[in-house]
Amino acid sequence: MSERDTVSDATPSATASESRRGFLFAAGTTLTAIGGVLVAAPIIGAAVAPGLLPEKDKWLSLGASSNWTPGTTVLVKFLNPGGAPDDGVTRENACYVRCIEAGKFQVFAVNCAHLGCPVEWFAQSRLFMCPCHGGVYYEDGSRASGPPPRGLFEFAWRIQDGALEIFSGRLPGLQEGT
Ligand code: FES
Repeated sequence: MSERDTVSDATPSATASESRRGFLFAAGTTLTAIGGVLVAAPIIGAAVAPGLLPEKDKWLSLGASSNWTPGTTVLVKFLNPGGAPDDGVTRENACYVRCIEAGKFQVFAVNCAHLGCPVEWFAQSRLFMCPCHGGVYYEDGSRASGPPPRGLFEFAWRIQDGALEIFSGRLPGLQEGT
């Protein structure tokens, strides 16, 4: 075999190897980029979505503020305004509105601060009780006994044009510092 034959045999092989390496590098880079987008998209979406909700979807009217009788606590059901019509029952939510006096309220999330079971209001004992593990809260939402580490979470509220509105753009929780 001449030197010329050896050179001419090695060149196509090296080119094919480099081509294969280049293809694998490009494929690996592309798959890594796709994986990165798939991981990052939900995180970015969750971070920015609340800020994208129109302001009208964040404050939800629960009706005239004069509808509530001072000294009472009432369960109010509502649809999450940021949801889509085909969300079905997952769009349904509820809160307890406590009217302390005319124009002065507390609005509690129904979910227990322990593991999230819906609590129930007992007007006679003036206590919220959780059916799951026996958590008990006073009427002002503070923890009375049981496993909950804190009181009930509260919605921010305001009176706007005579209506009681709650900030419903995000469910109340520890992230709100409530
Ligand atoms: S979920 Fe309410 S006490 Fe555990």
